Amino acid sequence: MGVHARFTLFFIRLNQVFMNAFHYKNQELYCEDVAVAELAKEYGTPLWIYSENKFLHEYRELAAAFSECDPVICYSVKANSNLSILKSLNAAGCSFDVVSGGELFRVKKAGADTTRVVFAGVGKTDPEIQDALSQNILMFNVESEAELDAISNVAEQMKTIAPVALRLNPDIDAKTHHKTTTGKKGNKFGMDIERHNALAAKVLADPHLQLRGIHMHLGSPILTTDPYEKAAQKAVDVIAELREKGHDISWINLGGGFGLSYRNKEAPAYSEYAKVIVPYIKQAKCRLALEPGRSIIGNAGVLISEVIFTKREGGKLFIIQDGAMNDLVRPAMYDAFHKLWPVSTKLPVPHDPEAKDIPDCEISDVVGPVCESCDYFAKDRALPELKRGDLLCTFSTGAYGSVMSSNYNSRPRGAEVLIRGNNVQLVRKRENYDDLIAFEIDCLK
Ligand code: LLP
Repeated sequence: MGVHARFTLFFIRLNQVFMNAFHYKNQELYCEDVAVAELAKEYGTPLWIYSENKFLHEYRELAAAFSECDPVICYSVKANSNLSILKSLNAAGCSFDVVSGGELFRVKKAGADTTRVVFAGVGKTDPEIQDALSQNILMFNVESEAELDAISNVAEQMKTIAPVALRLNPDIDAKTHHKTTTGKKGNKFGMDIERHNALAAKVLADPHLQLRGIHMHLGSPILTTDPYEKAAQKAVDVIAELREKGHDISWINLGGGFGLSYRNKEAPAYSEYAKVIVPYIKQAKCRLALEPGRSIIGNAGVLISEVIFTKREGGKLFIIQDGAMNDLVRPAMYDAFHKLWPVSTKLPVPHDPEAKDIPDCEISDVVGPVCESCDYFAKDRALPELKRGDLLCTFSTGAYGSVMSSNYNSRPRGAEVLIRGNNVQLVRKRENYDDLIAFEIDCLK
């Protein structure tokens, strides 16, 4: 590792020690220098709060960990596509991974250099392909032979050559949730790795396609490094074979999926992932692209809800709050764990947020008002006493939180604020009832 990279890593580590975006001061939760209770008073609840310093810190740390191979880091827009977040990442030098025309529209609005943007997704439409080609994107991560044909056709009509990477399914078990694993045989993503030669030959024979690289994304989140090592090894082998066959191929894209500590430091550091990936990339003399989403923005965001009622029924204590599955669907959809703690409390956040025997706490279910039994944020969780009007923070909700929200039960989506030091910026307005029906056409008028 060069002196410059070591230096950068040292300062990033130092910064990390001090960089605790969400922290308690005088028994009150703060985001950077701003009291969360003040934000809730000003903007109402449910409220999404993002720390700009935290996600920039994550981006920079990832970039530093992989700096030896000068990667293009394409933030995965699907994790959180708020325009202000994209603009901030873009200004820091980050690029983007998009999966739809809508996401491409967003990154253009954010001022991104589209020549560094990658485009994945199993169902790209002709207009989306056309749009991406006219934006000169870095490459399409192509997921099927039919898609290769479609891209070639559109490129021919546009009298251009489309840059492509073959998204290969390496058949690696990333040991993640069955709903978020992607690199195992039988998932809808990518093409079987055994077919790389035939697919590459098809690209080579097509004057409207140019093979730039290969892409593999294994799933999300991945809490160990060995699936990446296996994937990198397979990628290097495929590249070597394709070069032997005369392909001028230079990119390896290993996707995203880096772990996030939802509980307590369970995710490996970026440097751990880099340790197993970088040597392969250097060996192959390739450029590296990465598509991190969750690890950049996940712990830079929280969701604040207000307790509406509490009740004891069936031998259980229920905390009923105004944040619900329409806001954060992850617990209902993936049985996801999110740490919860009151915004104002004299009790410190427990080291083990899953512990059942925390002093002065009671086992509770935290639920929302939506008419579904799966509308919960936490089950059997030890929490301090909460009463009507108290604020509750759901942590680690920056990724796949607001982007997956809906209007189910005709509930307007909450506001989003971005914090930088003591600066507060409203970056998405709270929806109102008129917004709920804005796109409906009253045919009985
Ligand atoms: N690249 C590709 C091709 C992907 O499919 C994904 C995520 C990423 C990158 C970014 O992965 P990340 O770094 O964020 O782990 N809604 C689920 C997660 C779905 C992930 C979809 N693909 C959740 O809430 O856990």
